[in-house]
Amino acid sequence: MTRRRLGVCYFPEHWDPADWPADAAMMREAGLDFARIGEFAWGVIEPEPGTLNLDWMQDSLDLLHAHGLEVVLCTPTATPPKWLVDSMPDMLATDRNGQTRSFGSRRHYSFSHQGYRRECARIIRAVAGRFGTHPAVIGWQTDNEYGCHDTTISYSPADLAAFRDWLAQRYQSVDALNRAWGNVFWSMQYGSFDEVDLPNLTVTEANPAHWMDYRRFAAAMVAAFNQIQVDILRELSPGRDIIHNFMGRIVDFDHYAVGAQLDISSWDSYPLGFLDQQRDLFPPDHRKTFARAGDPDFQAFHHDLYRATSNGRWWVMEQQPGPVNWAPNNIAPRDGMIALWALEAFAHGAEAVSYFRWRQLPFAQEQMHAGLLRPDRSKAEAFAEAGRVATLLADLDWPETTQADVALVFDYESCWAWTTTPHGEMFDYFRLVFETYRALRRLGLSVDIISPHQTASRINDYPLTMIPGLFACPPELAEAVATATGRVIIGPRAASKTADFRIPAGLAPDLPEDLRPVTVTHVETLADGLEIAVEDGAFQVWRDFAIPHPDAEVILSSADGRPALVRRGALDYLCGWPDKALFASILAQACAQTGVTTIPLPDGLRLRRAGNQAFVMNYSDTSFDLATLGSSPEILHGDSIVPPSGFAVIRL
Ligand code: GAL
Repeated sequence: MTRRRLGVCYFPEHWDPADWPADAAMMREAGLDFARIGEFAWGVIEPEPGTLNLDWMQDSLDLLHAHGLEVVLCTPTATPPKWLVDSMPDMLATDRNGQTRSFGSRRHYSFSHQGYRRECARIIRAVAGRFGTHPAVIGWQTDNEYGCHDTTISYSPADLAAFRDWLAQRYQSVDALNRAWGNVFWSMQYGSFDEVDLPNLTVTEANPAHWMDYRRFAAAMVAAFNQIQVDILRELSPGRDIIHNFMGRIVDFDHYAVGAQLDISSWDSYPLGFLDQQRDLFPPDHRKTFARAGDPDFQAFHHDLYRATSNGRWWVMEQQPGPVNWAPNNIAPRDGMIALWALEAFAHGAEAVSYFRWRQLPFAQEQMHAGLLRPDRSKAEAFAEAGRVATLLADLDWPETTQADVALVFDYESCWAWTTTPHGEMFDYFRLVFETYRALRRLGLSVDIISPHQTASRINDYPLTMIPGLFACPPELAEAVATATGRVIIGPRAASKTADFRIPAGLAPDLPEDLRPVTVTHVETLADGLEIAVEDGAFQVWRDFAIPHPDAEVILSSADGRPALVRRGALDYLCGWPDKALFASILAQACAQTGVTTIPLPDGLRLRRAGNQAFVMNYSDTSFDLATLGSSPEILHGDSIVPPSGFAVIRL
């Protein structure tokens, strides 16, 4: 059975060592199992070039170990110290306007810089060489939040040199590059790879194929940077789990590729910060309704996404413990939410949740960020809520995660493609997939998010697979769709380009002729408020004008007489971006036809199924009577009336 752990992010170097024993004792008192340490500590570990100062870390590890706490150690590479940056200033990242990003916060490096990569390898060897087999150490976190603060893509001379090499390897000849990109347009032909520049700073938009390759390159640099760390940690710290902490809605690199290098994917979950920050996802009335609880689907979406990136093993490495410091407004959680967020993660199969941070710091950038302790060491609200989670972890029978009812494809290349050419200001791929996820969850469904490549081998595990907005369809996915036994709903804007960023020769969707339900002749984007009525709902944002294949059946039409949902065999093509009502009716019908049981839920109430159990989470500020779910479910934990922020476990 999976062991589930509760932990905390701890920075002993910020505090007087005289406080450390009491810290460890109080961590035990709260019921914590582990602490994550060493993150951002390069300046302490190596105060000047070549002078290593690791005894404090030894003391901290020994002390935590003596108190029965396990430790996740971090590589400190998100914060190169000043002396290092000054020794090779060209390691700094450059922003899209060509401005060098300066020292004085964090993540100030370019992933491509060979000298910085060597320095990272050196410091990791030093730390892992000394502590890799320390008995307290159960795992490692590489760096911190790749891509956070818009740091995946940099435009420095080091990036340019590395990009040219990458292109030369990908295309072998510059003629091949010119053909692939279509550089005959606007006389953009290059005579050699050394002539290719970066796609920023052009007069008007650069070639989308140029951007696409630059984004692929940038993603490859993140994966290469992480691989260096992973290789060293595997050598020097055998048997320990290697983890990275991803962030919410950061899509600039391929998390499936980085996740494949790891033992465990983790992510940093700040529900209230995200709700207030992600304004295109959450309109003002929604932000107000859920201001103290967070969006009822955003955390779950990332739990399910990151579970897909590393073969099912995943953690929440940082969990919001109270108000944060970085959102537009930093609201205090409603009582119970600090516990509920962690319980929800465990319900989705997390092996561990760790709160960020142990003690609120009285200085520097994050002094207004809550912790489990206040700056004066008194217990903050989160201390007791973490304790509640620890008790439930021990007391409840947490079933293993089982396969969900529905598969939903999420693809990083599609994020990059449609960010490059949204074609309409409202089109956002992440939002399209997220709204699909939310519509499924409103029907009480649990969702497995999978990559296009995973879909090929897993499509027949699911009665229903949703593939919205896919940029280019990999051949193995087309083959899998051809033999799918369940229903597959693809679209809108699906398979509408080739991998080279061209319109497919036979128009979209780029699927074999004997498969495609429609041919999309042209498309339109719909300005805010412009809608195409379909049944009780409408298309918004995007519409495909589609001609059905002679063998296909039009299942739904729009009020203006165009096909809205077209079926051929197991494959449906959805010709627009549905609003809430249309999503609900299309998905309810698809589930009814494929034998998937739905349980329509009120806003704010969500279920996560595991086998014949379901975890119930109440994000709303009103109580919910479980009897309204239908034939009175057997309650395994909690009460029949689930209060705001409440958690219950039922048998379905
Ligand atoms: C995270 C980050 C932490 C801390 C935290 C504050 O994104 O990984 O280091 O800054 O935010 O909420």
